[in-house]
Amino acid sequence: MKIEDLEYVHTGLLETPLEFMPALTKKLGKGKLYIKRDDLTGLAFGGNKTRKLDYIVRYALDHGYTALLTFGGVQTNHGRLTAAAAIRYGLKPILVLKGKKPGKMSGNVLLDRLMGVDLHYCDLSAADKLPASQQKAAKDQFLQETADRIVAEYAKKGDKVLIVPTGGSTVLGACGYVRAVDEVMRQMKEQQVTVKYLVVGYGSTGTFSGLWAGAKYYHAPFEVIGIPIRPDYHPLEECVTLINQLSRQFQMGFTVTAKDIHLETGEDGQCYGGTGYNEPDPVTQRYIKLLAGTEAIFTDPCYTGKVLHGFIDLVEKGKIAGDGNALFWHTGGLPGLWTEEHLDSMNRAYWTDNQKDSVHEWVMK
Ligand SMILES: Cc1ncc(COP(=O)(O)O)c(C=O)c1O
Repeated sequence: MKIEDLEYVHTGLLETPLEFMPALTKKLGKGKLYIKRDDLTGLAFGGNKTRKLDYIVRYALDHGYTALLTFGGVQTNHGRLTAAAAIRYGLKPILVLKGKKPGKMSGNVLLDRLMGVDLHYCDLSAADKLPASQQKAAKDQFLQETADRIVAEYAKKGDKVLIVPTGGSTVLGACGYVRAVDEVMRQMKEQQVTVKYLVVGYGSTGTFSGLWAGAKYYHAPFEVIGIPIRPDYHPLEECVTLINQLSRQFQMGFTVTAKDIHLETGEDGQCYGGTGYNEPDPVTQRYIKLLAGTEAIFTDPCYTGKVLHGFIDLVEKGKIAGDGNALFWHTGGLPGLWTEEHLDSMNRAYWTDNQKDSVHEWVMK
């Protein structure tokens, strides 16, 4: 089957805008800089997961599922959007979250509660006492066993639950990003834009893998560069496997190896992925502020702020956009700005008495 013949639903509002960033382009003084606004996919504050969910939800509906269960961190964007898509298509939303129940709602958790999502917090801290090499497997096992128990409970009530892997980064989910290449190439043609480099986040890799495969399949004129969003990033071999599965399943006619994949992680001490997954860090915050102050476009502290750091650094160093134009693929995640820990950290950075660069107080006498 050709990927174009695979059916999908419309969980979001596509196509998303392709925009020129004039002020950032002027500030950096290299090639022209563009942005693809997948933060504006529409559903439940938007983000990259809607393109994946178009295919996953279609599959669930076609196979008689009545509920979607997925995994994520406590502030998972993927969880918020999977739940939202489930609700919009009459499926029950269930999230299995890696961490203790927070004391307060904030960010995505507030949105999950407002949507009435069935939330299951998993305290995995016992695994931290195990040798480092065993921790991940032990945590994964607990999460899977918990999910299986929930699925069994739902089954007793007559529900059929589809388990969606973390990040929706399956062959089916990645199809949304293969097709996104067709969309952006059409937009580039309409707007008479040429781009040599496309920069996007690399998390559970479905987005990157789909774009990479799409670029190859549609003979795109740009190279897809991935920026890992954490220092201990997802194994490259799994990304390679996903791309090859996509190619095989939809007869795309290519094979990829690890050396074909271009990731940029930043240098020691200046890792684009920050200090750890979803840890507030001042460098990422500075880049978030830079784009907000030049283009009035917001990025988030867990994913897109880090990718933006990589994008701008690569432009400044002339690694991209010196010999052509570059595109930053925004993937959303904006509720992350309002999570308790990031809000506290940004208050310390931008709201203390000696940091209020453009904050004034006037007292009426
Ligand atoms: C806002 C945002 N950007 C990027 C990513 C990474 O996408 P992927 O997991 O497909 O690599 C995620 C994943 O959750 C995300 O929420």
